[in-house]
Amino acid sequence: MLLGVNVDHVATVREARKALEPDPAIATDLAVRGGADGITIHLREDRRHICDSDLKKIRRRVSIELNLEMAATDEMVGIALKTKPDLVTLVPEKRVELTTEGGLDLNKSGKKIKKAIDAIQGRGIPVSLFIDPSPADIQISKDIGAQMIEIHTGLYANAKGKKQTAELNRVRKSVKKALDLGLLVNAGHGLDYTNVKRIAAIKGMRALYIGHSIISNSIYLGLEKAVREMKKLIKSASKAKR
Ligand code: PXP
Repeated sequence: MLLGVNVDHVATVREARKALEPDPAIATDLAVRGGADGITIHLREDRRHICDSDLKKIRRRVSIELNLEMAATDEMVGIALKTKPDLVTLVPEKRVELTTEGGLDLNKSGKKIKKAIDAIQGRGIPVSLFIDPSPADIQISKDIGAQMIEIHTGLYANAKGKKQTAELNRVRKSVKKALDLGLLVNAGHGLDYTNVKRIAAIKGMRALYIGHSIISNSIYLGLEKAVREMKKLIKSASKAKR
């Protein structure tokens, strides 16, 4: 099973200060060194974290799968055709949300999404639809021609105890239905170092897309070293003769 690492969260920290660092392109290099099978970035219409120059920079340096998450708008389809990611994942987008809150509403937006799928897959780039673990949405995904789906695991991730097991069963059933229909199946959202295990054990899953938890853990893994480096620098500068 493949792991796609979402580096948007690095750009979120950068944008909080409107600074140059941390750079999601450097985070991309480190994720590749750590064994990531893919890199995901979400170019939002409001450019609140990843911006167009990040996309260009990351496209140039990534030879593993670059998964571009985006809304099914004409602007984004144009950008995808120009930058040629290895995979496009269509997601719903609301200006006020903190993060993607649920799967696509295929009943409401199926026509618009099909138009985007035709344009992008017509140019040889596979399209994945980010959907809730719902048999009806899986059937529509197949009917409108998507090659892949990404099952939203947010409800599973946020649930506890029996409710989490019930959500897990919904995900399992959805994976089975999608595989039976010949779709490639991914999953993501809210997965962390604990709850990932039961999702990773599902047979037939192609890839998991994980961001927040990995970027959070990287702070814990790296902060001690970062402080030590700064301390060393200050110490040697304060000892130096002027
Ligand atoms: N998949 C999709 C479609 C997403 O929008 C996100 C969040 O950016 C993720 C996966 C990763 O979610 P998380 O950051 O909670 O791991």
